[in-house]
Amino acid sequence: MILVTGATGRVGYPLLEALADASADVTAMVRVPAKGDDLPGAAKYIVGSFDDPPPADVLQAFDQIFLLSPAIEEQAELEIRFIDALLAAGHRPHIVKMAVDGFQDPGVEVRFVRSHREIAAHLAASGLAVSYLAPSIYLDTLLAAAGRIRRAGMLYVPSGSGRAAYVAASDVADVAARVLTAPGHDDRTYVLTGPEALSGQQLARRISTVFGRDVGYTDLPAAQARAELLASGLGQWEVDGALELSDWVRQGGAATVTADVPEVTGHPATRVEDWLDDNRAAFLDFPPELPPDVF
Ligand SMILES: NC(=O)c1ccc[n+]([C@@H]2O[C@H](COP(=O)([O-])OP(=O)(O)OC[C@H]3O[C@@H](n4cnc5c(N)ncnc54)[C@H](OP(=O)(O)O)[C@@H]3O)[C@@H](O)[C@H]2O)c1
Repeated sequence: MILVTGATGRVGYPLLEALADASADVTAMVRVPAKGDDLPGAAKYIVGSFDDPPPADVLQAFDQIFLLSPAIEEQAELEIRFIDALLAAGHRPHIVKMAVDGFQDPGVEVRFVRSHREIAAHLAASGLAVSYLAPSIYLDTLLAAAGRIRRAGMLYVPSGSGRAAYVAASDVADVAARVLTAPGHDDRTYVLTGPEALSGQQLARRISTVFGRDVGYTDLPAAQARAELLASGLGQWEVDGALELSDWVRQGGAATVTADVPEVTGHPATRVEDWLDDNRAAFLDFPPELPPDVF
């Protein structure tokens, strides 16, 4: 049986949809019972968290675990606690670990990337069988820019002319579903990207074309980006991390394009134009529930 952690999130939720389509035997881990009642495919669920992992007899029921935690300061500590709970249960399931592009490169000093590197070192020492999914930046992060695009026709990305190979979270979920349900993926690392790498300027042009309006691009100075991120409610650790990430993009770190999405899923990686079209309402209308503006 498969255990999906992070089941209510941007990747976990479409992963449950894909696993339901594949008629897989799947259980979600949720922190709050109410969230378990509304999962795709009426998935079974257990209540647990990385802070307080489920007991040994519960963990022993799963032969595959999709391991996803949020990009917060305690991320490495939380995932390591969960891995140690598995090992203490005398259990050795196959882990499909959500990481991030760059995690294998010790030269990448972005804190969100470093956390995954630390977890990967712990997994390597554990000897568990692991498959890594290492996505580039999600296209879905553009939703945080939708408010400013609607109101002011501007895209602010503090990354100069640096390009990023934005990938749809739904493509990451499709890859995860294949890795969890088909043989041959143990000890593999998949770097998951969109079909091309785009700069902020190029992204603004695509947005203009899809929505038939002029959307400009501004390379936000770091000080202004910091002020806006703090004002959006993000904590200091997350803000510093977002600026490190932007710098990494500026230096070309996120521009790698791979064919791993089409090779694993059998369908092309989502084009930015198609993703924008699917999310048209967020960019053109005034839905009541949008994430706070970030850039
Ligand atoms: N953002 C990007 O562009 C990007 C790119 C590449 C890789 N990544 C990686 O992707 C991961 C985040 O994926 P995502 O965007 O799908 O996540 P997400 O939408 O932020 O969802 C986080 C999930 O983790 C659960 N969660 C939070 N705290 C938990 C805890 N203490 N114990 C157990 N579960 C907990 C949440 O459950 P609740 O519903 O209870 O809150 C939710 O299901 C991170 O590891 C990040 O490094 C992100």
